[in-house]
Order: sequence, then C-alpha cells, then structure tokens
Amino acid sequence: MKKKPLIAIDGFSSTGKSSISKIIAQKLGVIHMDTGALYRGITVYALQHFLEGNTINIPQLIHHLSDIKLEFKSIKGHLSLFLNDTNIDPEIRAPKVAEYVSEVAKQPEIRNFLLCIQRQIAKNGGIVMDGRDIGTVVLPQADYKFFLTASPQERALRRYKELKENGIEADLEEVKRNLLMRDKIDSERPISPLKQAPDAILIDNTHLDKKQTIALILSYLK
Ligand code: DC
Repeated sequence: MKKKPLIAIDGFSSTGKSSISKIIAQKLGVIHMDTGALYRGITVYALQHFLEGNTINIPQLIHHLSDIKLEFKSIKGHLSLFLNDTNIDPEIRAPKVAEYVSEVAKQPEIRNFLLCIQRQIAKNGGIVMDGRDIGTVVLPQADYKFFLTASPQERALRRYKELKENGIEADLEEVKRNLLMRDKIDSERPISPLKQAPDAILIDNTHLDKKQTIALILSYLK
C-alpha cells in the first residue's frame, strides 16, 4: 500500500493554519495535528503551577516537565487536547495563554520534550501537521511543505473576530500588539525559529479567504 503523505504547514499566527490544515486533513483522509496547541497546553500547566507575579518560573517548569501528560483524544470526531486527563480545549485559546506561550515555546528543553511527542505521532505518515518549525525541524522529510503568511493588520482582525466569536472580550490594538510581539519572539529565538523552509511553498493569504487558501494548497497536492 502506498504510504500516506506527511504534510507540513507552517507560518505566522492567525493565517488560518490550524483550521485550514484540519480541512485539508479531512479531505485527504489523514490525521491533523495542531502543534501550537501543545505549546499552549504546557503554558496552561505553567500558569496553573509556576506563575510568580507576572512571570512564569521557567526553571521550575522545566524541572517538572515529566509531570505533564499531553494527549489528543478524539471526541465526536474532533481531536481535543487533554492535560493530565483533563480536557483543556477552552483554556488554550485564552488571551492569557497567548500572552505567555511564546516565552514558554522558546525554551530548548520544552521544544525537545514536544519534539518527541510530535515525531511519535507522525511516524506512520498520513498527517497534516501545522506549526512554526514543522518543515524545518520536526519533519524536514515531509512530502509537502507550505508556509502561510498575511499582513499583520489582516491577521489581527482575524484573531480579534475569533476571540469575539468565542465570547472573549478583546481590544483590536492589544490583539495586534500581542501578535507582533509573538511574531518577533518566534522569529528571533535561537532554537527552531519561525522561518520558511527553503523547499516550502509560500502562500500569502491576505486577500484569500479560507476556502480559496484550501483550494490553492490542494492544487499543489498530487
Ligand atoms: O499556532 P499557535 O498560535 O497556537 O501557537 C502558539 C505558540 O506556540 C506560538 O507563539 C508559537 C509556538 N509554536 C512554536 O513555537 N512551534 C510550533 N511548532 C507551534 C507553535
């Protein structure tokens, strides 16, 4: 039997990576993994246990990584993220998590811890994995690689609308500031920075909606 493809979709926040990846995976009949959710899951744990004033005690968090069990479980056809057997789907999207996640994600020990989980899930092929370093570090051997981008203003608007739809109050300028700060931390960190793999296809979807972006990506998949 032909091996199912490994597809890496990286890019900036609020380019629609996760929802687009999810639909592409459904269309191809393969699994989807949102790796940003894993970094957010660790951040939820950190905020619960190691928040001191306004900062996360990173050395303590790293010391306790082995206490963290993160699993995706299928519930009514939807993959939910469980942290030590508790469903944390709603929590991972909270603005507070967005505020701290890049700081957590830039720690080499945390990236290594999650690298093992990500590669384990992808080892049999048949996956669309979205994140920041999938095409460059996690699955450099992926069959297809895409890199999504869009203007900061458009991305801030998308995130703002998403938060509102989920009943979370937000301020557009604040959302944009957070987004740009995360772009900066993610792109400038020394380990696995957010960057386009040399062999990835660049897709700027500032003027494309989700459907059009999906159609464009599918047009590249043979
Ligand atoms: O895609 P997202 O916004 O849910 O990602 C949350 C954070 O996790 C983001 O600031 C960057 C980080 N991240 C990462 O460093 N590497 C990945 N493969 C996925 C996400």
